[in-house]
Amino acid sequence: MNHRVILALCIFPAPIYCMERTADLTINDFEPLIYQEVIQENIDKKAEEISRDHEGKSLTIVMVMKGAIHLVSDLMRSKNLKVPVTLECIQASSYGQNGTEPGTLNLFGADRLNLKDKHVLLVDDILDTGETLSGIIKQLSKQMPASLKTCVLLQKSKKRKNLEHADYPIFTISDAFVIGYGLDYKEQFRNLHGIWIKKGK
Ligand code: IMP
Ligand code: MG
Repeated sequence: MNHRVILALCIFPAPIYCMERTADLTINDFEPLIYQEVIQENIDKKAEEISRDHEGKSLTIVMVMKGAIHLVSDLMRSKNLKVPVTLECIQASSYGQNGTEPGTLNLFGADRLNLKDKHVLLVDDILDTGETLSGIIKQLSKQMPASLKTCVLLQKSKKRKNLEHADYPIFTISDAFVIGYGLDYKEQFRNLHGIWIKKGK
């Protein structure tokens, strides 16, 4: 190790330690669950349903950052989405320090929206405990939208107290931890093609 590196380690030990920390789960802990092509097929089917349900109306999509990024992008560009759309976004984070267990809901950007009399489609990545989506619905409903529907990429099949199901789930999966296509583990893996499931579940 050269003397400049040793000097830097002595002066800035904490930041360097933080930079070198990596997630404890790696891509090797996951296996493919749903391929990209199948996701697009199902999105197209839902886009048709959404268009039918909102015929003659225009739709305000509220994207929940960051997990819904690819779903919103592919849904908005689906050949079957036939209604005019506008896009808004809010940010929600709910997972705790370890990355796989829920924590407290933090919501940003909902206050600056004006949803009065709008037909809103709230799009999120996944419906797990339902805490996040039901918290967001509670906030957005205060703005008196004309209608408020929910679309999620994944809905986990389990009992939920708050929100039993989304209006437009693209897939329903077992209660396992998944990544890819927007979904993260400690902010990583959102860029993966398709959805990957944690092995051994
Ligand atoms: P809920 O509030 O428990 O429904 O969780 C919703 C949020 O937790 C989602 O928007 C995701 O960000 C995150 N989440 C839940 N399950 C998973 C998962 O399996 N993988 C990655 N993130 C997840
Ligand atoms: Mg997340």
